[in-house]
Amino acid sequence: MALFAYTLGAMTMPATPPHWSTLPHAPAPGTQLTMLNDLPDGQATLLALDTGGGPQQPFRLLLLRSGTQVTAFVNRCAHFGVPLAARQDLLIFKPHTSITCNVHYARYRWADGTCESGECEGEALIAVPLDVGTDGSISIGGAGQTPGSHQIPR
Ligand code: FES
Repeated sequence: MALFAYTLGAMTMPATPPHWSTLPHAPAPGTQLTMLNDLPDGQATLLALDTGGGPQQPFRLLLLRSGTQVTAFVNRCAHFGVPLAARQDLLIFKPHTSITCNVHYARYRWADGTCESGECEGEALIAVPLDVGTDGSISIGGAGQTPGSHQIPR
């Protein structure tokens, strides 16, 4: 799989992002993440999962709640592949609107993770599918699920 940007004539094409499940220490479908009540509306929440990499190489996730929607992305900037923020208190976001990488300040759209400005404009965060149970439990979705926003069951 080509993971690097390439040049076609005078136009540089963005790199093909990896699928979340191919990243090192990707969590298995069904891995429990958190409870809905722990995600305030309008909050961007970082999670660092120990899925075999130990505390030095966690699988980093970003959960965004907006009303009745929860969206998950890999906490991995499309620019250099580093976390948008290493700790919750360093995360830069505008509730329901955008998330900003704190390295070179690329700004991503809250709704779908598209980079709207910065060095990786037009690329996107890597979406991860979720399951939200009727009891409010949130887990990694199945391989056949489409990543993106997940409606909270009522
Ligand atoms: S690493 Fe995120 S904008 Fe450069």
